[in-house]
Amino acid sequence: MCGIFGCVLKNGDVANVIHSSLKRLEYRGYDSVGEATLDKGVLFVKKDVGKIDEVHATHDLDALPGKIGIGHTRWATHGAPTKLNAHPHTDCEDQIAVVHNGIIENFSVLKKELEDSGHVFKSRTDTEVIAHLVEQKMREGQTLRDSVLEAVKRLEGSYAIAVISAKEPDKIVCARRESPLTLGVGENGVYFASDIPAFLPLTNKAVIVENGELVVLSETEYTIWKISDLKPVIREPKTIDWTPEMAEKQGYPYFMLKEIMEQPLALRNTLRLQEHYLELMSTFLDRAGQLFLVACGTSYHACLAASYIFSKLAFHVTTPVIASEFTEQQGKSVNIDSTMLAVSQSGETADTLAAVETARQRAATIMGLTNTIGSTLTRVSRVYIGQQSGPEIGVAATKTFTAQLCVLSQLALRLAKMRGKISQDEIDFLEARVIRIPDTVETILKTQEEKIKDLAKKYKNKTCFFFLGRGISYATALEGRLKLMEIACVPAISFPAGESKHGPISLVEPGFPVIFVCAKDETRKTLIGNIMEMKARGATIIAICEEDDDEIKCLADDFIEVPKEIPEVLSPIPYIVPLQMFAFHMALERGLDPDKPRNLAKSVTVR
Ligand code: F6R
Repeated sequence: MCGIFGCVLKNGDVANVIHSSLKRLEYRGYDSVGEATLDKGVLFVKKDVGKIDEVHATHDLDALPGKIGIGHTRWATHGAPTKLNAHPHTDCEDQIAVVHNGIIENFSVLKKELEDSGHVFKSRTDTEVIAHLVEQKMREGQTLRDSVLEAVKRLEGSYAIAVISAKEPDKIVCARRESPLTLGVGENGVYFASDIPAFLPLTNKAVIVENGELVVLSETEYTIWKISDLKPVIREPKTIDWTPEMAEKQGYPYFMLKEIMEQPLALRNTLRLQEHYLELMSTFLDRAGQLFLVACGTSYHACLAASYIFSKLAFHVTTPVIASEFTEQQGKSVNIDSTMLAVSQSGETADTLAAVETARQRAATIMGLTNTIGSTLTRVSRVYIGQQSGPEIGVAATKTFTAQLCVLSQLALRLAKMRGKISQDEIDFLEARVIRIPDTVETILKTQEEKIKDLAKKYKNKTCFFFLGRGISYATALEGRLKLMEIACVPAISFPAGESKHGPISLVEPGFPVIFVCAKDETRKTLIGNIMEMKARGATIIAICEEDDDEIKCLADDFIEVPKEIPEVLSPIPYIVPLQMFAFHMALERGLDPDKPRNLAKSVTVR
């Protein structure tokens, strides 16, 4: 996601400090960069699309004057990566500048209200509303601090913001809700940043800003208040003894673990998708004659799960296809009535883009679901949705898989609504459950990690695993198997549990480990039959099941629990989490680095 940094210095120019600190936030991923400084009551801004070095080469980011300033690396969510959409954003009179990390959910309503009262917008971002809201309050005679306070009270969504104004050129006002914000207190000034690594070489004295807090930074001090009632908060700096490398991973030893653990937050961001994107895409889906869901690897598993969800909720038949097979398998059947929903975290996977090209040449409608706004997939799609998971650095997809499932389930629900295929009660129930999914995932992460570590110790020397499930859980099993293979380098086989007796069961001998994904759904009876078949041949059963599922627990040798009453169509999201964790700990037990799987690249741009 976006990175923010800024500071008020006692001595020296701020621009080169911002420049080098933004470089230390590059690992977060970004497409544009910008800085704003204040000097002698004048606001200066430089920003553009591109990497920091490229923007610096054309604009000389260090040439901005002044001792106070803010900077930003943007990772596009609202509005394409363009110069105008890059931060900082300013008000109508270029007196106020804002940087923001997060998503303002109600920005369209606020923008309309501000435009109606005469404000002129320059960008298509959600962030710009903040500059105009602050401007509005300052015009009414309020201070910068109180104007920011009033502005953030009107915001829905997530934010870490920093605001400067030419009218009060000695301070920066910051506020936080959900998105991370940290202060650094140094000899030569006070800093704020999305992440500690940004200021670590300047100071190791850090103050974490909590949710719902407002901060004013001056060159010698920081003051914190609660946004709700302006009560002052006293918080002393803590000494950080992280190495810069640890700091990038927010204290986690591996990116993969960090990304597994941040799934609740990432899912909450995904749930903030603008209603009209979902509405628009489901309208296209509704019109689709033949609907192909196309992707590779983990993203394909999300498509496979989605094919069950679309069928069960919207009675809509879809064809999930592995992208590298699309042209051979389906190419000739594509026509003007066909629609392809291509799913790609990176938006750059060559096989997926080749399938898109085949479909485009045959006049199909292309839609995209991606984590990378501005990627090739967003450019070739008639409609696309950005899943808002934030950059994924671990090679193995984790948080982006659960987010893909979250978007696809919401689309299926919209379509079900449009088509009147399931009752309003059921829709209301599922919508409420979708909102609770981040909490469910959080519970699993908090309660199951120790047990999963023990299981990894117990099974680390096994040479082959089966991953089995029925119905939608087959997609979960496939993804669990892929994680184990790619990260822990353990051969594993996955197939629908019902297929065992048609061949693969011949591999089973006493002690052979079989992981069953046991979502509580209509497949239960037959799944129990499949567990019995395996047990009868001496297999060791590891079940992922609901916490109150005593029947499965009695049959299993080991089990990992997920919270109870998870609706079948949402089950892949919580059920995959223990399997991601299992793969991660198996890799560690086997002496492998989960962030550097052998022979793999994050984005596969060759065919
Ligand atoms: C597995 C993994 C890969 C990707 C696949 C598609 O953990 O990350 O299987 O899912 O290469 O990548 P995207 O989604 O970027 O098209």
